[in-house]
Amino acid sequence: MKAIVCADRNWGIGKGNGMLFHIPADLKYFKEMTMGSTIVMGYATFLSLPGQKALPGRRNVVLCDIDGWSAPDVTVCHNFDELFSLLGEDTSNVFVTGGQSVYEQLIDRCDTAYITRVDDAADDAEKFFPNLDKREGWKLQERSEKQESNGYTFTFDTYIKE
Ligand SMILES: NC(=O)c1ccc[n+]([C@@H]2O[C@H](COP(=O)([O-])OP(=O)(O)OC[C@H]3O[C@@H](n4cnc5c(N)ncnc54)[C@H](OP(=O)(O)O)[C@@H]3O)[C@@H](O)[C@H]2O)c1
Repeated sequence: MKAIVCADRNWGIGKGNGMLFHIPADLKYFKEMTMGSTIVMGYATFLSLPGQKALPGRRNVVLCDIDGWSAPDVTVCHNFDELFSLLGEDTSNVFVTGGQSVYEQLIDRCDTAYITRVDDAADDAEKFFPNLDKREGWKLQERSEKQESNGYTFTFDTYIKE
């Protein structure tokens, strides 16, 4: 299982129910990385998707404890028992895609985290990703060259859990 996120220097990832930055190159990276995989997200993150629609080309799994909630092309899991029985033993093709509450619950079940690390510190961030620089067992394995898109500077970082 892997996590994928776009975070600022302080590991900020969102405000209200939206992202902090609009970075087209990051959206492209997210699409390329997750295409064909299972993506697991929280209900709030699902509601923040464009048109509140499942992302095409991926199995969309949404964690939500509202009885009876459903959406087209979405598999709803009401708890982790349902999630892990759906995913089965092999979770190598599963991406955790947010938001804060789901990252916090699942980060230690991940072996890899793909962080688009934006060289910015949003002072209005309200949602955060766990700080992998301080989290036991995690280390930065690879950092890309500096990238630029839509006026932002960022790197594509890969953290692994030892
Ligand atoms: N920068 C990025 O890459 C990125 C990526 C994704 C999201 N985000 C941001 O993250 C923020 C949203 O994060 P969030 O923490 O507020 O919400 P979230 O994690 O997306 O969703 C929270 C909701 O998911 C449901 N849920 C979570 N864990 C569950 C479990 N174990 N079993 C059953 N239901 C569960 C609950 O729904 P109920 O309300 O039904 O209980 C909970 O209220 C937004 O700002 C979004 O833009 C950023």
